[in-house]
Amino acid sequence: MSHPFDYSGKRVVITGAFSGVGAACLEVLQQLGAAEVIALDIKRPDGPISSFIETNMGDAAAVAAAAEQIDGRVDVLFNNAGISATRPVADVMSVNWLGLRQLSEALLPQIPQGGAIVNTASIAGGQWPGHLAEVMEAIAIEDRAELLAWCDSHKDLVGDGYGFSKECVQVYTLKSAKQTLARGVRTNSVCPAPIDTPLLPEFNETMTEKTMSWTIEQCGGTIATPTDIATTLVFLGADAARYVNGVNLNVDMGFSAFMTTGQIDFSGLA
Ligand SMILES: NC(=O)c1ccc[n+]([C@@H]2O[C@H](COP(=O)([O-])OP(=O)(O)OC[C@H]3O[C@@H](n4cnc5c(N)ncnc54)[C@H](O)[C@@H]3O)[C@@H](O)[C@H]2O)c1
Repeated sequence: MSHPFDYSGKRVVITGAFSGVGAACLEVLQQLGAAEVIALDIKRPDGPISSFIETNMGDAAAVAAAAEQIDGRVDVLFNNAGISATRPVADVMSVNWLGLRQLSEALLPQIPQGGAIVNTASIAGGQWPGHLAEVMEAIAIEDRAELLAWCDSHKDLVGDGYGFSKECVQVYTLKSAKQTLARGVRTNSVCPAPIDTPLLPEFNETMTEKTMSWTIEQCGGTIATPTDIATTLVFLGADAARYVNGVNLNVDMGFSAFMTTGQIDFSGLA
């Protein structure tokens, strides 16, 4: 029997592998013996990959073309690419949500039984239980222009788009896990707290440095490293997680747990 975390023989597709969490995933996948790693990004990763398809995940035609170029079996798909709300809402929704859904659905027929889809969401997308019906309505919209118009007419909910795009990913993970399981494919997400990556300064800008520092303080005072998140993503893609499906796994040093049980200290935000 092979080791439950082993990736040897596995063919992997990963988006957003140039920097941060995705780049760390490449290292972990190499250590675990991944047979082939196909990277989709706007920038060519320096790390260990087998092939690169330059792809803007926010561009439906580019995503379709990339999926077309990927022939044969895909054992694990890591939907990791993401951008901050330093960009317009339409871009944020397109890269973080629409591109992720499009690639997942395009590649699903190539994912064999026992395969997995693993999404990088965020604790910033953890507010969906307060308005699940609206998020379900949003994710049911197939047409890009229609969704962007929906966002425009729900500005209070959608805000700068980042948190809402990750709410869409979290709820889609719950919903699509049923459909993918019908093919023997698991779907899960990792929901990280702040991570020390090139995106962090952008979050300091969009969410304020005070809020980000406070969040890290509530996470025990240390920030997650890209590898902390990469190892969790890779776990969810591995046979070790064979019975894990439809889970949004908070990787936040307990932040969400403390929030739920009223143990968060808000005084630092005042
Ligand atoms: N850094 C954090 O604090 C944090 C917290 C929670 C979740 N996340 C999520 O983690 C994921 C990885 O982000 P990161 O923190 O490693 O940041 P990062 O900026 O280092 O990585 C993002 C990756 O996506 C690629 N990318 C950007 N725009 C793209 C596009 N249009 N098409 C294809 N690829 C594109 C980048 O080149 C890069 O490789 C994202 O989904 C992000 O939302 C980050």
